[in-house]
Amino acid sequence: MVSENWAVRYRKLTDAGLIVLGSEAKEKIESLSSILPMLEAARSSDVKLLDSKTIDDLLSLVPDGTDQKSNTNSDNKGQYTLPKRGNDSPIGRIIAAPQSELEIAPRPHGLEYYDMMDFPMEAKEIDSEIQIHFDITGKSTTEGTMSDIQNCFNSRLSQIRNLMISNRILPRKPISISEAWRNRQRYSSIDYEITLVGLAEGPSWARSGSLIFYVEDESGTQKCVLKPPSDASPIHASMDGLMEDEVIGVTGFFIGDRDPAFLVQDIHKPPLQNHVKNPAGEDSAVSAAFLSDIHLGSKTFLDKPWEKMIHWFKNDPLARTIKYFVLSGDGVDGVGIYPGQDRHLAIKDLFKQYSELARLLDEVPDWIDIIILPGNHDAVRPAEPQPSLDPEIQQDYSDAVFVGNPCDFSLHGVRVLSYHGKSIDDFVATLRSVSYDKPEIAMKAMLERRHLAPSWGNKTPLSPEPEDNMVINEIPDIFVTGHVHGHYVGNHKGVTLLHSSTWQDQTDFQRMLGFQPKPCILSVVNLHTFATASIPFV
Ligand SMILES: [Fe+2]
Ligand SMILES: [Fe+2]
Repeated sequence: MVSENWAVRYRKLTDAGLIVLGSEAKEKIESLSSILPMLEAARSSDVKLLDSKTIDDLLSLVPDGTDQKSNTNSDNKGQYTLPKRGNDSPIGRIIAAPQSELEIAPRPHGLEYYDMMDFPMEAKEIDSEIQIHFDITGKSTTEGTMSDIQNCFNSRLSQIRNLMISNRILPRKPISISEAWRNRQRYSSIDYEITLVGLAEGPSWARSGSLIFYVEDESGTQKCVLKPPSDASPIHASMDGLMEDEVIGVTGFFIGDRDPAFLVQDIHKPPLQNHVKNPAGEDSAVSAAFLSDIHLGSKTFLDKPWEKMIHWFKNDPLARTIKYFVLSGDGVDGVGIYPGQDRHLAIKDLFKQYSELARLLDEVPDWIDIIILPGNHDAVRPAEPQPSLDPEIQQDYSDAVFVGNPCDFSLHGVRVLSYHGKSIDDFVATLRSVSYDKPEIAMKAMLERRHLAPSWGNKTPLSPEPEDNMVINEIPDIFVTGHVHGHYVGNHKGVTLLHSSTWQDQTDFQRMLGFQPKPCILSVVNLHTFATASIPFV
């Protein structure tokens, strides 16, 4: 970790648009009593990269450079330049009066841990490496029939049950509900416990404090009772509630003679071991930036901070490490998304919203590949998985990769799962621990259930594909969502969790709910070290 002094200096250097190359250069800078004369010399010489030799050259321009204690502000009587390449003019030409102390702009959070020396090359020198593992675009086959729905649930059950069995998280081999029911008299005491695996249905809390629910597998449905704990039982301590249609295992036995219920002694969730990330190689150490919910077309789109971000992209050294810019849905506000939306729109035509977004994204430097997912405000089917935006819309965008929602992809081998996050609405409505100001809890709940949107028929429309692609089969290195307009950067069991920030100010609806969004924060991740920075533009 860097020292505090270096962190302050580093911040001044990055504010001035300078990149330090190599440990020798860093040591030289640390040894200076003040870096201001060198900053001035670098600025007037139009120098951006500071290696050891350039620092020596710059310091040679600074009067009395050996004792800079006397040369912090007012003693500096001139501004000095290195010769431009191919220019023979002598070093040390005085071109202007000196500036006073450089003003430090509001700076990124966490940048002291985001070491520019981790990047041997600029992003523009490194070729793109995007590999898509799952994207529904062009592959949706459902006709929405009952058998499609059944196949989708069977696919979910078998995928997650296989994960439970192969990761040995169940106390014994599960049996089918029909087999359990046939032998219910035998499995009717704690000495004859069995384990079932199925979809949880109809969970409700009884007055007694028991959780009543059903489990369903391919062979039948069984009523289950989880009694309230007589002590601080580990089951109830973690019982946050069950999501409708999530896959669980239950261990217990039958009780009662007429219509016996299954008395649950333990609930098993799918496996989620500590994940070991797969970093990008040192020779492809680049960053990815993440944002969501730009909501272009809305009157509450924040245009001034956007200009500030574009300026940052064009001028900040950190921006030169960014190779990818992932936009996780709701790029535009859309039209007719909710009743009365029209009066909140600055751009009322959907295609104009998209072409204006294309114009704004065109300002992002060319070396950055933009990856665009749709969200629930976009002009695609709302049922998830959603396909990518229409080719007619895509043609306005010069350099973007359009994918569906969710999308599972790799950037230089780093596995990213990007999901807009509509199902967070369902997690908030169901689980006791989840609220809109903590979307990361819903994200952890998704990982723990190995499913992005388990509940059918609630707030998240789902497309019943024969294979349930909302199952999280592969644990990602980076899991990113948006949708609820918060912001979070953290870790859960080895996975980098990002809740991407929005570019929309508080809406009337959010004001009514008392919800304060966290707009205009760019999340940046070093794909080699997984160091993160969150850069605010308001
Ligand atoms: Fe949104
Ligand atoms: Fe959304």
